[in-house]
Amino acid sequence: MENALCILCIFVSHWHFLNALFTVEVPQPRYIVEYGSNVTMECRFRVNGQLKLQDLSVIWEKKEEHTKEVYKLHKGKENFNNQHSSYSGRVQLLKDKLQFGRSMLQVTSVKFTDAGTYLCLIGYEGADYKMITLQVKAPYRNITKRTVIVQRTAGQNEWELTCQSKGYPKAEVIWHNGEHQDFSDKANTSYETGTDQLYSVTSTLKTNTSINETFHCIFWNKEFKENTSAIFIIPDDTVDSQRINSRHYFATAGAALVLFGSSLLFMLWLEKIRTGRRTNNAAVKVIKLSTNEEEGDCREISPENEELENVRIEVT
Ligand SMILES: *[C@@H]1O[C@H](CO)[C@@H](O)[C@H](O)[C@H]1NC(C)=O
Ligand SMILES: *[C@@H]1O[C@H](CO)[C@@H](O)[C@H](O)[C@H]1NC(C)=O
Ligand SMILES: *[C@@H]1O[C@H](CO)[C@@H](O)[C@H](O)[C@H]1NC(C)=O
Ligand SMILES: *[C@@H]1O[C@H](CO)[C@@H](O)[C@H](O)[C@H]1NC(C)=O
Ligand SMILES: *[C@@H]1O[C@H](CO)[C@@H](O)[C@H](O)[C@H]1NC(C)=O
Ligand SMILES: *[C@@H]1O[C@H](CO)[C@@H](O)[C@H](O)[C@H]1NC(C)=O
Repeated sequence: MENALCILCIFVSHWHFLNALFTVEVPQPRYIVEYGSNVTMECRFRVNGQLKLQDLSVIWEKKEEHTKEVYKLHKGKENFNNQHSSYSGRVQLLKDKLQFGRSMLQVTSVKFTDAGTYLCLIGYEGADYKMITLQVKAPYRNITKRTVIVQRTAGQNEWELTCQSKGYPKAEVIWHNGEHQDFSDKANTSYETGTDQLYSVTSTLKTNTSINETFHCIFWNKEFKENTSAIFIIPDDTVDSQRINSRHYFATAGAALVLFGSSLLFMLWLEKIRTGRRTNNAAVKVIKLSTNEEEGDCREISPENEELENVRIEVT
């Protein structure tokens, strides 16, 4: 503020006739723009008749710990000597609007660091300034969904639903089902930031649910009161889960085969004990059973082997 007032007093000292009625107005004190877009901020002053450009000075600066000069027009001439490097080549005063008493500053490809308070100072037939707030956002527009079956059961499967998106500022992720029951506290949300300052938000909900049940994940951007959402229909859009399902299928089939094989062996063993008690030849056979999930295969077991007395089953 001191800085601004000081510039103001320098300004004022330049005007021989001080017009106390000279004021700067802002038609819009707050701008909310999307990251990467352009913005034109405006403040207005009174021009009586033809604009005398050589009498006009315009300064736009950003209020921070160390005030940054954004743009300067001094007595009708642009001066970029003290312009802060972060605005270099990105700002432009729309000079054709000055004659209408409009000081319009265009900032292109807006960055998150552009957010803050700007001062628009004007010296013409007097001097005054106003403040403008710039806010920068990046909506969580593109939501990527993933569905995976964690556990299959008769009626309800256990599902893992995941929503992922990028945006700014940090969004909360709210989950609810088709009946608007809140599941948010059962979800797990993580945040990561990259070089672009955007938050990568990933939220995972594990839930036991049945076919055709719907779930919504909502990215709730509190600061800008903005929601974006994605919908899940169980078991729709489950490209992933199909793969997982088939793997589950093979695993289950494999396990069943192994179980079946073992019971068969056990029965054979009992049978042998009963029928082959008289044989003292204690040949030990080791039969290996593979439980390879992918193949689900059980090796051939030859029950005909007459020497079979003690059978050890090794599950590898
Ligand atoms: C932003 O402004 C630049 C320069 O004036 C222009 O080339 C670009 O198309 C504008 N971008 C958008 C999104 O309007
Ligand atoms: C949405 O995100 C996905 C994955 O991150 C990406 O492949 C896709 O191009 C994005 N779509 C849009 C419209 O940004
Ligand atoms: C959330 O994820 C973290 C890390 O992956 C894990 O340690 C934590 O137990 C999870 N919480 C819940 C409620 O699932
Ligand atoms: C789903 O049901 C199974 C079996 O009843 C249980 O073990 C599991 O913890 C449940 N999962 C959730 C997320 O409630
Ligand atoms: C799920 O919805 C589809 C399409 O609306 C319908 O054909 C099917 O019968 C439903 N299944 C169950 C179990 O409700
Ligand atoms: C966004 O969603 C949240 C949670 O469902 C709700 O509380 C809030 O009112 C919604 N806001 C808007 C602007 O839709």
